[in-house]
Amino acid sequence: MVNRHLDPHLNPWRGHALRIEARPTVARHCHGASERLGKRAMSRHIFVLTGAGVSAESGLGTFRDKAGEGIWAKFDPMKLATPQAFARDPQTVLAFYDARRRNLLAARPNPAHVALARLERELAAKGDRLTLVTQNIDDLHERAGSKEVVHMHGELLKARCQSCEAAHAWLNDLTVGDACPRCDRVGALRPDIVWFGEFPHHLHEIDRALRDADLFVAIGTSGAVYPAAGFVAEARAFGVPTCEINLEAADNALLFDDALYGPATEIVPAWVEETLRT
Ligand code: APR
Repeated sequence: MVNRHLDPHLNPWRGHALRIEARPTVARHCHGASERLGKRAMSRHIFVLTGAGVSAESGLGTFRDKAGEGIWAKFDPMKLATPQAFARDPQTVLAFYDARRRNLLAARPNPAHVALARLERELAAKGDRLTLVTQNIDDLHERAGSKEVVHMHGELLKARCQSCEAAHAWLNDLTVGDACPRCDRVGALRPDIVWFGEFPHHLHEIDRALRDADLFVAIGTSGAVYPAAGFVAEARAFGVPTCEINLEAADNALLFDDALYGPATEIVPAWVEETLRT
């Protein structure tokens, strides 16, 4: 599962034994069989929020973990993931994202990504709906077959021009000497990522979907970064049952009605199977 070519600093799974405290996989609130559904015309709408934990077993590092070995324990986010840092030292910021882009291109979707693509497909076949919102900047959901993925923090395989605002697919390293393919401006391209202090994308669409959902599930996220960490409270306020799927309890774990703990590649396929049977 782990790709040897990946940069060891960005790959927390290298050489670490798995700590598994799997809970029983069937948790009442985790499958959308709720009273709320009774009130609707039987079409079910599931809202899934994913975080770095869903891509961890594809060899892409998480940012924070209880062992203190996440990316932000090794690199200073204020020097690498803010617009101010980019203005101050674009080469260092671009080099950091170049390494992550190369890692991503060498990575593969894992069974958790594949299961969520299946969930999208099979819910749609039954006239139900999945809203898949990710904090991840990788394209592993899409590579696993998910058709509709809402990237609230942007996408690593895109570059955006700060002059004409155009976004471009970008698979190679990005340098300050690169020109925007649309306006030809040199040095204005930046990774199309939402940095700390910037507004995430698609918040209105996300808010509408949260209000309309029958179930809210957060997968592989630490609940440390807002506004995503606040979605569970919003869902609760709208009377939506909530479920956490994670390796360990997130910072906002107490806000969830239910939880399933263990590695995403094991828990998510089982949860999807159970949910589609419900
Ligand atoms: N399976 C399931 N969960 C896992 C796994 C795994 N194999 N490995 C780690 N996790 C869990 C960790 O326990 C942790 O709770 O995934 C979570 C990852 O948390 P973070 O690294 O904080 O990632 P995330 O919540 O997505 O970060 C939010 O912060 O740095 C910014 O913009 C960045 O989108 C990111 C945001």
